[in-house]
Amino acid sequence: MANLIRVIGVGPGNPEYMTPMARNLVECADILIGGERLLEVYRKSGKELYIIRNNLMDMVEFIRNRRDDCQIAVLASGDPSFYGILEYLKRYFRTTELQVVPGLSSIQLACAALCISWHDAAFYSVHGRDMEGLVELVRDNAKVIVLTDPKKTPAVIAAELVSQGVSERKVYVCENLSYNNEQIREFSLDSVPRDAGSSGCVVVIMNE
Ligand SMILES: C[S@@+](CC[C@H](N)C(=O)[O-])C[C@H]1O[C@@H](n2cnc3c(N)ncnc32)[C@H](O)[C@@H]1O
Repeated sequence: MANLIRVIGVGPGNPEYMTPMARNLVECADILIGGERLLEVYRKSGKELYIIRNNLMDMVEFIRNRRDDCQIAVLASGDPSFYGILEYLKRYFRTTELQVVPGLSSIQLACAALCISWHDAAFYSVHGRDMEGLVELVRDNAKVIVLTDPKKTPAVIAAELVSQGVSERKVYVCENLSYNNEQIREFSLDSVPRDAGSSGCVVVIMNE
């Protein structure tokens, strides 16, 4: 029988936030698949590394070809089930072929840093997606948490909200969570600097 494909959440970046379960399963794997940032620390591990770039279909073929002989771990930032690689893998593999190992999501860390709950938040991601529906979501919810990307930065999101008549919200830009250069900043909707969170961050938009 083919080995299970492990889909492992490695947390927001700093290895200290990785769970012991995730750490052990990564240790057991022969092949690690993931983005360059996540695989960087395993460069000298002796494991075979497969870097995800714009090659997701090739990655699926690679997994199909190698999983009979090797233990494969697909590393996901944060939690794989939160805007992560899980949905993509489920298009090509049955759920019985996958073992999902949860990780600490960037949104959990952002909420912890801001000392707020996330059970009452609405979630959205503009990471590689458009902003359709975001304005309505912010109008309808007192707390909206958004994953950004380098194109749809906090300033771009704020400008879109302002242009659609949304006002009186605070914007918290949470960057580099868990790293030494972690930064949490608070802005009004009309004062988000262009360079804030420009490489991807968590944005929390709340009623003032
Ligand atoms: C593809 S999504 C994956 C989210 C991930 N599954 C999670 O649970 O955090 C990537 C986005 O998550 C956010 N993100 C991930 N790690 C982060 C960190 N350490 N600091 C701030 N934002 C982070 C950014 O918005 C980034 O563009």
